[in-house]
Amino acid sequence: MKIAVCGKGGVGKSTIAALLCEALLEKGFQVLAIDADPSPHLARLLGFAEAEKVVPIAEMKDLLAARAEKDGPFYSLNPKVDDLPEKFMLERDGLKLMVLGAVREAGGGCACPEQTVLRRLLSLLLLQSKEAVVVDMEAGVEHFGRATVSAIDAVLVVVQPYRGSIETAKQIARMAEDLRVPNVYFVGNLVASQEDEDFLSRELGARPLVSFPRDEEILRLERQGLPLGEARGPARAAALKLAEELTKRLQNGT
Ligand SMILES: Nc1ncnc2c1ncn2[C@@H]1O[C@H](COP(=O)(O)OP(=O)(O)OP(=O)(O)O)[C@@H](O)[C@H]1O
Ligand SMILES: [Mg+2]
Repeated sequence: MKIAVCGKGGVGKSTIAALLCEALLEKGFQVLAIDADPSPHLARLLGFAEAEKVVPIAEMKDLLAARAEKDGPFYSLNPKVDDLPEKFMLERDGLKLMVLGAVREAGGGCACPEQTVLRRLLSLLLLQSKEAVVVDMEAGVEHFGRATVSAIDAVLVVVQPYRGSIETAKQIARMAEDLRVPNVYFVGNLVASQEDEDFLSRELGARPLVSFPRDEEILRLERQGLPLGEARGPARAAALKLAEELTKRLQNGT
């Protein structure tokens, strides 16, 4: 299953993407995490040191373009995760991480070429069962205009119980539906009470698939620069539930 995590800036996309990767690993999945944010943090949250050594996917452009004319596993029509060249990824048991692009300078222009490469990669990549791709998207709605998510099985729209976040979430959900993403789910974050949950459901017009509470342990790990895989509290429990719901919905429970 190919999953994109979207939402307004700062709502918890990277946190939830990282926790979801760990939860899927725990459930026996092989996971490819893709950090599509131009200022990437996923490597740190997943506990990869030396993140700067990885070659960004953006540099895969020529490989993908030349794919049809060359030999070798990567050039097969639908590469598997294992066919992707190692220089583009960091790896530990069952988990691979790719980074979309290098950090952009202020005023450094748009990420269109990177987004094109990402879309092409996502649509070509052939997944086995028990393999998952989790993409941590750039904040906001801009990338949807570029149809990056058209090859995605499910968009998770992370939303907090306040109006600004909800408006962006609804906009993203509409765009994802326009792009015919087959499954669009809201995921609540920093949901503290039944009142928060009811407010979200009412304003979104749908219940969040899963809601994450505020979890002090997540804040502490983030502040200490420690991987979120060490979390044992309520956010981890919510991530396991999210992984289970997604498996049930996207893979018929397999
Ligand atoms: N459930 C939670 N409990 C406690 N802290 C959280 C929770 N979710 C997110 N945070 C904290 O909120 C901050 C922002 O989270 P995060 O970086 O995941 O957001 P983001 O949506 O990826 O932001 P950006 O748009 O900048 O990429 C981080 O410090 C993170 O540790
Ligand atoms: Mg982020």
